[in-house]
Amino acid sequence: MSSLIAPSILAADFGNLERDCNMVNCSEADWFHIDIMDGLFVPNISFGMPVVAAIQKYAQKPLDVHLMIIDPDRYIETFQKLGAEVLTVHYEACNHLHSSIQKIKSYGMKAGVALNPHTPINHLRDIIQDVDLVCLMSVNPGFGGQSFIENTFIKTMELKQLIKENHSDCLIEIDGGVTNQNAAQLISSGADVLVAGSHVFKSDDPLEKIKTLKNIT
Ligand code: DX5
Ligand code: ZN
Repeated sequence: MSSLIAPSILAADFGNLERDCNMVNCSEADWFHIDIMDGLFVPNISFGMPVVAAIQKYAQKPLDVHLMIIDPDRYIETFQKLGAEVLTVHYEACNHLHSSIQKIKSYGMKAGVALNPHTPINHLRDIIQDVDLVCLMSVNPGFGGQSFIENTFIKTMELKQLIKENHSDCLIEIDGGVTNQNAAQLISSGADVLVAGSHVFKSDDPLEKIKTLKNIT
């Protein structure tokens, strides 16, 4: 089965945001992946609400918003208003993860939780039944264009097992360093959603890169 493809707008050309959003609209991609960084939880700052509003204006596919910010509860309502269909918070950034997940759902969005590369899958045992998506970071969050961490394959298989044991329909998303070199093994390990930034936007033929990823089974 082919996976969902979510091009990461972080790697787009912000001087040509409308053009790059239209490329995704016309492509075989499924979602827009939108990275929000606060310079505290991660060492980088990406972009804020006005840019997400511009993406919302142009995007014709669901917005998958990845919050790399501390205390994300402050902005759940804001991102719902900005059109997020999936809202993902970090396990490491939430003191009360169960409450944050319920709050995201109460605003009608799918709730995701992201794990940094060092955070073990078994930390999800008591929350897996409540989440719609788990985002496994396959790089340390904060920057696009980094190399894929190979341990992600094992984590993906462990997470798939945990999801099965709990009879959950939670999706597994992989974020960071995804290319057509690792996509097949990720899918066979259990990945449902592949986020790809540089691999798509820094190529000469983004449409072709998306098509190739989409057709890997
Ligand atoms: C990293 C972000 C990723 C990033 C992926 O902190 O969460 O979504 O945009 O970019 P690539 O695909 O270039 O690693
Ligand atoms: Zn991301």
